[in-house]
Amino acid sequence: MNDLLLRALRCEETLRPPVWFKRQAGRFLPSYQRLRRSHSLHHLFHTPSLASEITCLPCDELGVDAAILFSDILVIAEVLGYHVDFPLSGGVKVTPPAIKQEGDVRDVLSYVFETIRLLKPKLSVPLIGFCGGPYTVATYLKDTTPQMLQKLTDLSIIYLKEQVLAGVDAIEIFDSWAGHLERSDFEQKSLPYLQQMVEALRPLQIPVIVFCRGSCRYIPELVALNPRAISFDWEEPIDILRQKVPPHLAIQGNLDPEIFAGPLEPLMEKVSQILTSMKGKRGYIFNLGHGVLPRTPVENAHAVIEIVKKISVDSPLST
Ligand code: CP3
Repeated sequence: MNDLLLRALRCEETLRPPVWFKRQAGRFLPSYQRLRRSHSLHHLFHTPSLASEITCLPCDELGVDAAILFSDILVIAEVLGYHVDFPLSGGVKVTPPAIKQEGDVRDVLSYVFETIRLLKPKLSVPLIGFCGGPYTVATYLKDTTPQMLQKLTDLSIIYLKEQVLAGVDAIEIFDSWAGHLERSDFEQKSLPYLQQMVEALRPLQIPVIVFCRGSCRYIPELVALNPRAISFDWEEPIDILRQKVPPHLAIQGNLDPEIFAGPLEPLMEKVSQILTSMKGKRGYIFNLGHGVLPRTPVENAHAVIEIVKKISVDSPLST
């Protein structure tokens, strides 16, 4: 088992940073796009054999150091009777139930746990499970009332615990749109719910990564949550962020997905700059600052992975 990700999450010494890409399962891989043309996304998400196959694609084809479950943050809404659809034309369509209802996470999302169980024996890298932050999910449901935020929190805690029982090695909470809230809203609509989730998972001793766009603005608040790692976008250089986050917490990020999708030369320059600035620093996971853009050439991913992996051969990061 390649345990680089887990060691970096524990802030142990590693020869190089682990590398994986947000939204690596899907979107930009030609092998995924072929599957996507012959199946609806609903079918891909709900069929464990296909979802597990897609989860493995970036590991087998790119050689990333972590797998992230092929699913979506919005499937949790199915427990509340919402119908979630991703039309081929793009975007997402969320339809509320005619009458309020609530199912059991273990039943409604059993296909996710089955996917995890299928994946575990196939993978040679850690598997990241995930869910959305309640605020971000609620924005897609067009209901950010405290009742909805609390309901999503309670369901997400059950959901994450079941993912851990099924076998995931780490958890990432994607509260993508929370960091761009103004302070009082962030403190009311995001933070307390993230806190409940992180605390509920603590006894399970599973590493938890928290991600929001704009997280640079709320570093003390996110540090106070005491997750295992904080994932950053590209608003500040990663070495500066390393200085702002206490050394016992890991950090993840923060290549701009636009640069990742662009021409090779500036991309390689940027990646080298990031890697040089993080040389010798523990608790660092190379990643993007947000999801891979669908138009990203797959060669760019190969090139980035090659340069990250080259570090351990040329100049070990450990000091
Ligand atoms: O990281 C991975 O590859 C694992 C799977 C994953 C998906 N969505 C698959 C997906 C993860 C971790 C997500 C998270 C997610 N989903 C977030 C948080 C992270 C972020 O990027 O901000 C959010 C906000 C969503 C909601 C969502 N899902 C939207 C708005 C859309 C439609 C637009 C889009 O991004 O494509 C999705 C669809 C979605 N989620 C696809 C996949 C593979 C569909 C892409 C396709 O058409 O095949």
